Amino acid sequence: MNIILLGPPGAGKGTQAQRLQQERGMVQLSTGDMLRAAVASGSDLGKKAKGIMERGELVSDELMVGLIEDRIAQPDCAKGFILDGFPRTQAQAEALDRMLAASGAKLDRVVEMEVDEAVLTERIVGRFSCAKCGTGYHDTFKKPKVEGVCDVCGNKEFTRRKDDNAETVKTRMAAYRAQTEPLLPYYGTRGVLRKVDGMAPMDTVYRQISAVLAGT
Ligand code: AP5
Repeated sequence: MNIILLGPPGAGKGTQAQRLQQERGMVQLSTGDMLRAAVASGSDLGKKAKGIMERGELVSDELMVGLIEDRIAQPDCAKGFILDGFPRTQAQAEALDRMLAASGAKLDRVVEMEVDEAVLTERIVGRFSCAKCGTGYHDTFKKPKVEGVCDVCGNKEFTRRKDDNAETVKTRMAAYRAQTEPLLPYYGTRGVLRKVDGMAPMDTVYRQISAVLAGT
């Protein structure tokens, strides 16, 4: 099964994609994580993306389509993937259609995560993740079980994203509204779009997504 998680910054896409990967064996394709890895490695892509990401703007369609095209072609994606952060523009959505058609794959569901804008900044500025395995946490909503120790790998170092500040969130939200939200009708007319309540507790959101994937 191949799905897209669609929603504004901080909606919970990464949180739910990580859990779907752990529990259902689907492959999480987070373009944000891929770009952050490129920035950390100092690659050409990372050099081009760094400033754009820190400002909260979108990286060019050309770079993003190339990145996803290469990743989707890898054998592990045949068991099903979760797109987390892609597509974000009409051009990316159309490129995805072409990629899937060329490989004979199909898009099964687009899950819209609806969240009130008022909570997004709080979610984003409180977010941190394990520096070793990338598991995501939050200062209030998802603390590690033992303070200062990652639940998954036991590591004691955590990182915060440079773009997770109130100022950049405004630019990221504006980019979402102008360029990504118009994809909702694009997928709605095809009958693949389903909504879940992203304001609910994380376990409830996961159950809602599972129900969507089960077709109930
Ligand atoms: P990206 O990394 O994709 O960031 P984003 O879309 O802004 O999404 P976030 O990662 O901020 O939020 P999320 O929905 O994953 O929320 P999370 O689960 O972490 O992109 C970063 C940048 O890269 C972009 O700005 C752009 O520059 C570039 N980029 C990436 N893809 C691109 C593309 N396709 N085209 C162009 N540029 C691209 O949750 C947030 C917090 O809330 C967490 O701490 C979590 O614990 C907590 N939380 C989650 N769910 C709940 C809940 N139900 N209740 C309470 N708390 C919750």
